[in-house]
Amino acid sequence: MGDTVIPEAVRKELNRQFNHELMAAHHYEAMAWWCAHQTLPGFARFFRKQATEEREHAARIGRHLIDRGICPAVEAIPAPRCDFASLLEVARHARTMEQNNSRGIHAAYEAAVTAKDYPAQVMLHWFIHEQVEEEAWTAEMVARVEAATCAGALLDLDRHIERLLEAKETGGS
Ligand code: FEO
Repeated sequence: MGDTVIPEAVRKELNRQFNHELMAAHHYEAMAWWCAHQTLPGFARFFRKQATEEREHAARIGRHLIDRGICPAVEAIPAPRCDFASLLEVARHARTMEQNNSRGIHAAYEAAVTAKDYPAQVMLHWFIHEQVEEEAWTAEMVARVEAATCAGALLDLDRHIERLLEAKETGGS
């Protein structure tokens, strides 16, 4: 365990963001089940993978707190949205969530800058970069779903996502 004392304002922000990442996982889990119910297995798999990634993000912050002698406090997570009128609503929900998540990361970073907490700043650099990617893929997903204007096109998109995930799992790009 390190002995770098973590400023209280930063501890609070990191703990808030830690729980925010767990909340994001919960939301992606709900989106995955909605897609499974709509017979969109590619999207379901994709969102389930996102849920796993969000839990890994929470763990990254949790480990940082542990390394600095703080036990992360897991808080209650409100029920995620489970009801969507269309896949487009799901995609837009994901985009809004990621935009909000970027704001949360930036708030944590600002607290670390104000407190001159360099270890937290360095740890959060990874997240700032990650959020650029997260916002980019959600924007792309919204655009692709918007462009798929008939049921057949949506199913094609779903199959495309499934193939893409399979290629990644078997070592492709
Ligand atoms: Fe943890 Fe989707 O960002």
